Amino acid sequence: MFGDGVRCLVVVGSQWGDEGKGKIVDVLAKDADWIARYQGGANAGHTVRVGEDEFILHQIPSGVLYPGKRCALGNGMVLDPVTFFQEIDELKARGHEVEDRILVSFRIQLVLSYHKLLDRAQEESRGKGAIGTTGRGIGCAYEDKVARVGVRAVDLAVPDRLRELVESGAARANDKLRALGSQAEVDAAALYDELSALAPRLSARACDVGLALRKALDRGDKVLLEGAQGAMLDVDHGTYPFVTSSNTTAGAAATGVGLGPTALDAVLGVVKAYTTRVGSGPLPTELPEEEAARLRELGAEYGATTGRPRRTGWFDAAVVRYAARLNGVTALAVSKLDVLDPLPEVKLGVGYRLNGEEVEEFPADLSTLARIEPLYETMPGWGTPSSEARRLEELPAGARAYLDRIAELTGLPIRYVSVGTRRQQIIDAQD
Ligand code: GDP
Ligand code: IMO
Ligand code: MG
Repeated sequence: MFGDGVRCLVVVGSQWGDEGKGKIVDVLAKDADWIARYQGGANAGHTVRVGEDEFILHQIPSGVLYPGKRCALGNGMVLDPVTFFQEIDELKARGHEVEDRILVSFRIQLVLSYHKLLDRAQEESRGKGAIGTTGRGIGCAYEDKVARVGVRAVDLAVPDRLRELVESGAARANDKLRALGSQAEVDAAALYDELSALAPRLSARACDVGLALRKALDRGDKVLLEGAQGAMLDVDHGTYPFVTSSNTTAGAAATGVGLGPTALDAVLGVVKAYTTRVGSGPLPTELPEEEAARLRELGAEYGATTGRPRRTGWFDAAVVRYAARLNGVTALAVSKLDVLDPLPEVKLGVGYRLNGEEVEEFPADLSTLARIEPLYETMPGWGTPSSEARRLEELPAGARAYLDRIAELTGLPIRYVSVGTRRQQIIDAQD
């Protein structure tokens, strides 16, 4: 994807998250100089395999496992400083020294212990209407950001201000926890001490990430902006309120690292060869449990962050068309094609019907979404492994036909096809 005038590439999930972004970003990172995250936080779980080792990255960009690559956490993220350093230390224990290659925005918002307590208490209070959050405090940290009471990385260097922010934040959180009927209580002094202890280590990584990336691009460096979650979890465009609390789509990439929108050269949309979702909310092409379980087992579809079983369904072209429009996707990467190898037939959701009429666009209204019926096309399975293919021509004919139909239905070129978890299990359609 880099080259041909592309210096700044955005990689976005174009379904409900877990599309295999980590694997694709890791592969593309080989040709990048910088890899930066622009939104979300430890709700993300991006799986990368290096040889026989598997890594699940939550807050650190997926390119970090290539030696020498520089990584950045943009202002649009919400950073849990405690688990961030745990992640760095775990990588170190497994032989990957990454700390001095990672920069953190001065302006990044911090996820504090009370955001996690509140996230869980709010979910409990929602009862049947629970969103099924990852419990990582994401929504509560973004609430504080927008309410202009958040704590930012830059505040760690100013002890008096930090103490004030933590004390008022803890008091507010305790009021909310009580109102939610929670027994949990935040100890402001202990939280302040914990943050003070982390402050020198975080401050050593903090900088103006937007400036660093601008200078990098001006030097001719290649920058990859790694999305978390997926378009259908975008707080504006997703299946609201069953969404995450950030803009996941490519438009947010510029704001989320501090670059101008004209800096973005191309957008690669990552999609699974089928569909999954973890958490509650609409999933039009969801399979009935028995068939859903089959696909779940074939694809090992369990959440990388929470271990929850993922809901599964057929590829939904209407969703991907919508995601492509929202993100300005210039090409697709299709992952996990190999998972469909054993199926006798595969189905493709081509659109929806409501009251006997075709629905052209993805509905905004939840009750409409509950009533739409997906329209399917059925294609024969290919029954031969695809995992050894390294060129499109080496794929089973049925798998190629399936990909061609996806390209046709979405109106997008397929640039990459992933056929396994390993780095080399990738097809670049331009090779
Ligand atoms: P992300 O959140 O988009 O990075 O995706 P996750 O890492 O949460 O989930 C994707 C899962 O599928 C991980 O377990 C990956 O190792 C795995 N995976 C990624 N690409 C492929 C592929 O092409 N084939 C198979 N079989 N597994 C894949
Ligand atoms: P990656 O980057 C899949 C889902 C949660 C829940 C909703 C809100 O690995 O693709 P939150 O904790 O963000 O407030 O939860 O969003 N969710 C994800 N689903 N992949 C993710 O990240 C997700 N991050 C959040 O399950 O439904
Ligand atoms: Mg994931």
